[in-house]
Amino acid sequence: MRSFQLPAFLPARIRASVLALAVTTAVGSALAADPAVSWFRDVTPLFKRSCNGCHNPNKLKGEVDTSTYAGFVKPGKHGPNFLAGDPSKSRVLEEIGGKEPSMPKEGDPLTTAEVNLIERWIREGAKDDTPADAYSTRLKEPPTYGAPPVITSVAFSPDGRWLAISGYHEVLLHSTTEFRLKARLVGESPRIESMAFSADSQWLAVSGGAPARFGELQIWDPATGGLTNGFKIGSDCVFGVSWAPDSQRLAFGGADKSARVIAAIDGKELMKFDNHSDWVFRTAWMDDGKRMLSGSRDRAMKLINTANGQFIDDINKLLEPVVSMARHPKEEWAAYGGAEGGVRVYRMKENQERTSGNNDVNLVREFERQTGTAHSIAWSPDGSLLAVGSTGEVRVYQAADGKRSATLKGHSGAIFALAFSSDGKQLVTGGFEGLVRVFDPATGALLAVFTPVPAGAAKQVAAQ
Ligand code: HEC
Repeated sequence: MRSFQLPAFLPARIRASVLALAVTTAVGSALAADPAVSWFRDVTPLFKRSCNGCHNPNKLKGEVDTSTYAGFVKPGKHGPNFLAGDPSKSRVLEEIGGKEPSMPKEGDPLTTAEVNLIERWIREGAKDDTPADAYSTRLKEPPTYGAPPVITSVAFSPDGRWLAISGYHEVLLHSTTEFRLKARLVGESPRIESMAFSADSQWLAVSGGAPARFGELQIWDPATGGLTNGFKIGSDCVFGVSWAPDSQRLAFGGADKSARVIAAIDGKELMKFDNHSDWVFRTAWMDDGKRMLSGSRDRAMKLINTANGQFIDDINKLLEPVVSMARHPKEEWAAYGGAEGGVRVYRMKENQERTSGNNDVNLVREFERQTGTAHSIAWSPDGSLLAVGSTGEVRVYQAADGKRSATLKGHSGAIFALAFSSDGKQLVTGGFEGLVRVFDPATGALLAVFTPVPAGAAKQVAAQ
């Protein structure tokens, strides 16, 4: 790790004790040599541990942002958080000090030493010493892995040449002949949330970001492994990227509850849709390129006019959060997987005949309920099969009659990613374990298992 930052996956207990140790050391050395208190070195770790959860650009409780100096210097709901040089006129000290501190609103209060440290920082002039590259997420070299990272997304290029697999801070581009790692597409986003190849296989669009920091859309040239464009979008991760039929526009959803369309060439925002009431995880286009569908945790799949961002209709009855969604390769149908394990296929059509929400007029077929959240869903290229990934297993259904034709076992944990090869002969799965499995979707036979990341963890295992 380049800077002092604990990985998010460490258990809270361990994070707290490691941070406490670091903080104690900082306080100890500050007292020993008595140098000025540093905002960046001394104060931000305390805020990060105890305050930023409620006071960040996306969750501005009391209109206070403690996550950066630029945020903290802005007044809160009842006025400035501090007055440089004057602790007695600094609201933040009233909140965190005294016998019964009101902040943090939840969790352990700051220790006396920690409160004194912040007081001294204010008395010494409350200077900002944040380094210029403090919040840069660029990596100087490709990441190294102790264990294979969780796979959130996999995608085959339509021309059959590439299999893209999400990693940490990168996309791992494999050849499809022997599943060899051909290129590491290392970008600025620590998190990769979704990927989609353009219809001509020339571009790979990647959505992701850094939670509570920024969203990003990257466009890569798989042939050269070069980044063509990287667009910063909003202040949180973006999900569910899809190409318009013209291969020139991209749709995606966000943690900011929006669905957007941008131009692939310059990132210009062409449409922003704000009619969802929760995170938007997925998008899909209609054949005319004039309408698109967004799927959200608010349970709706909404049809949108992409020219003006107007809401046309919910196509479905609101039953459960839409977690995964896939457009049928030929029909204008969308399949979704729900948080409660529901799997349904809908016509992408207005829902005018619906009367007070009781008719689910666009429903084409309801499939058997999965045993857990249906995290991932994919159609075979000819539309004859529908695969659904939940936890521990993937089920493959005949689209025509909804009967289950195969159950792909052997996984442990959630399966977040599914993709059929363009000839329909392989179905690739990935998820919590960080392993890629290749199945024959017709028989359910396991063809190969491998870890997509290089070296150490990258043991290629041939299955029987
Ligand atoms: C669990 C959420 C939570 C945490 C953690 C938290 N706060 Fe707050 N904070 C709030 C809420 C909510 C308010 C709005 C006032 C209220 O309801 O008490 C607030 C208000 C404030 C205000 C007053 C803003 C104003 O102008 O009214 C300050 C200053 C503040 N917090 C500082 C902090 C600091 C510093 C920490 C960390 C030591 C912290 N808070 C941790 C939830 C939190």
